Amino acid sequence: MFTKQESFDLQQEPKTLVITNDLTNPLVKSLDEVFKGKLKNISDKPFTTVYTLGLIEAEKVFIIDQESMDDDKKLKKIYKGILSLKSDIIFLLDTFQEALVPDLVEGLTYHNYKFDTLKSKKDDQKKTINYYTEKNLEPMINEGLILGEAINNTRTLVNTPYNYLNAADLAEYAKKLERIDGIKVKILEKPEIEAMNMGAFLGVNKGSIEPPKLIHIEYTGNKEDDEKTALVGKGVMYDTGGYSLKTPQSMPNMKMDMGGSATVLGAIEAIARLKYKANVSVVIAATDNRIGDHAIVPDDILTAANGLTIEIISTDAEGRLTLADALWYAQKEGATRLIDVATLTGAIVAALGEAYTGAFSNNKAFLNELTSITENNKDNIWEMPISDTYRKELKSYSADMTNKGGRMAGASIAAAFLEKFIENDRPWIHLDIAGTAFNSKTGATGRMVKNLTQLFK
Ligand code: BES
Ligand code: MN
Ligand code: ZN
Repeated sequence: MFTKQESFDLQQEPKTLVITNDLTNPLVKSLDEVFKGKLKNISDKPFTTVYTLGLIEAEKVFIIDQESMDDDKKLKKIYKGILSLKSDIIFLLDTFQEALVPDLVEGLTYHNYKFDTLKSKKDDQKKTINYYTEKNLEPMINEGLILGEAINNTRTLVNTPYNYLNAADLAEYAKKLERIDGIKVKILEKPEIEAMNMGAFLGVNKGSIEPPKLIHIEYTGNKEDDEKTALVGKGVMYDTGGYSLKTPQSMPNMKMDMGGSATVLGAIEAIARLKYKANVSVVIAATDNRIGDHAIVPDDILTAANGLTIEIISTDAEGRLTLADALWYAQKEGATRLIDVATLTGAIVAALGEAYTGAFSNNKAFLNELTSITENNKDNIWEMPISDTYRKELKSYSADMTNKGGRMAGASIAAAFLEKFIENDRPWIHLDIAGTAFNSKTGATGRMVKNLTQLFK
């Protein structure tokens, strides 16, 4: 999609020029001379399309207001404006601030995305973006492109409905990541999952017509480093609620319930392609949650792989069951710190909407590390509490815990549940992305992929 053009001549170039209004730049200056010094008079709109009326070969020049690039809303308008140009375009990258190049490439890749694989009529071809530069911007272009592509892959996974993407399909997708240097992928099948006594994960799968898959990816980017971070993604391929069935209002969009797994798959893809010097693993317990002859029912008691017993109050609180065993497995496999990512609760959507991902942690320093990155990327998290008040909600007279508390504070209670599966206070962050992973009008967002990637930069 990004194609380098080897030479450029302001007079002869026929493609639409995309440049900034930075008059200190020699290229912009020479264009300003063509326009007899009138460029500084153009308005401060995010962008202005100028017709050249034969002054140069290019028919149009698309001029981007530099200051507008600091404003997210305006920047989005700029991307959309560029991508909706009908003509061929040439980006004059040297007129942009160098530090902005990765974001620019990533943003264009992101906005050039359409989920049309299942439309009978595809929209017009994705736009080719030609660029010209006299500097060595390749590493920066590459960085933006890798991030943009990984984010778009996450979006496609989330946007793809259950009848095209079940646990086996996700495992197959994950397996293909092995083409990237440093990545090893292991798919554990039902007998192996049974051998590890993952009763919580297997319990969710009991209503399914398809076997569960445990996806385990290792990226080794730094053999000298003892630190290994596990990214554990919720991989509920579809969430009907099970016998605690969802309503016709709350079930649509539940294809997004593997959003956590799509996010960590996107992150490890980007981390590996960018060759970051870190050790990262991904663990996904993939299954759908549905009714069926063998499905679990409320009151059932499941035994998780770590031996803890769980009384089922709601079969719709299934994500935490799959995550419990996935977290156990990640620690058994040597994770020194963990981040789980999950579309876990409607309660977090009620609390934070789509503005923030809910973040819970047992370790301030670890959370601060992530927070500073999210602020930089303007894809923010907001810390939510775990405390005894919420832990108490999970008391059961018949098992070690229930899988659901009272009506209030559902997101914190879910986090308190997961916390029981973290051993020896290992640094851990739980990210509830139920409100941020998906937009019912525009589909998957790919949010948090960049944050999680840059944690290892
Ligand atoms: N997958 C849902 C959470 C969800 C809700 C994700 C809305 C995205 C949008 C989760 O499995 C669920 O059903 N949670 C229940 C938990 C409750 C039964 C304790 C919920 O939030 O209602
Ligand atoms: Mn559910
Ligand atoms: Zn769910």
